[in-house]
Amino acid sequence: MVIKTATFVKSSARCNQCPEGNLPEYAFIGRSNVGKSSLINMLTGFSKLAMTSAKPGKTQLINHFIINNTWYLVDLPGYGFAQRNKEQRNTFRSMIEQYITSREQLTNLFVLVDSRLEPQAIDLEFIQQIGEWGVPFSIVMTKTDKLSGLKLQESIERYKAKLLESWEELPPFFYTSSTTKRGREEILDYIEDINHT
Ligand code: GTP
Ligand code: MG
Repeated sequence: MVIKTATFVKSSARCNQCPEGNLPEYAFIGRSNVGKSSLINMLTGFSKLAMTSAKPGKTQLINHFIINNTWYLVDLPGYGFAQRNKEQRNTFRSMIEQYITSREQLTNLFVLVDSRLEPQAIDLEFIQQIGEWGVPFSIVMTKTDKLSGLKLQESIERYKAKLLESWEELPPFFYTSSTTKRGREEILDYIEDINHT
């Protein structure tokens, strides 16, 4: 898919403030600092579209970006940011939950996990939860530029084996790097295929 235009539309604190209409949308979720905003910039080719930061907790609202005037990319706040207090964590949690469970336009959720880490309990719990909600999702392993080919392969196998402990089938997997642009075509083609069916 060729990205002709990518434009920030709005930030929303609640689902009922999100853009109206019925364009399909694709949201990116994962722990704080996993690379959601960087991935959105890499995919669109607009390096300053979504705000990124070396400090976790940068994205605090539901951000809609319209792509080619036909679909939305959605940048969500990260979950599990330990330095936030409990009340803030609950606010983010309910914002994310409400969005995922009630936004009818949500077509696919990309769940980002850091390729360098062993499967993290918080990610596995989250994946379990979206499975129970019945929301279509894919796994995106981020920051693959930080691993050698062999280490990455090990990490992929470990992740898949872990998921197969509780799932009969694996969701689609993508392997990305916002620095090398690895995975860009695969994700964009995947979105394009869904949009055309
Ligand atoms: P929150 O908005 O805080 O939830 O974080 P986020 O998931 O949006 O992460 P963000 O894109 O802001 O990236 C966090 C940090 O990781 C930044 O310092 C990025 O430069 C770095 N980063 C993101 N993706 C990659 C990648 O593919 N490779 C490398 N080497 N660094 C990355
Ligand atoms: Mg972010």
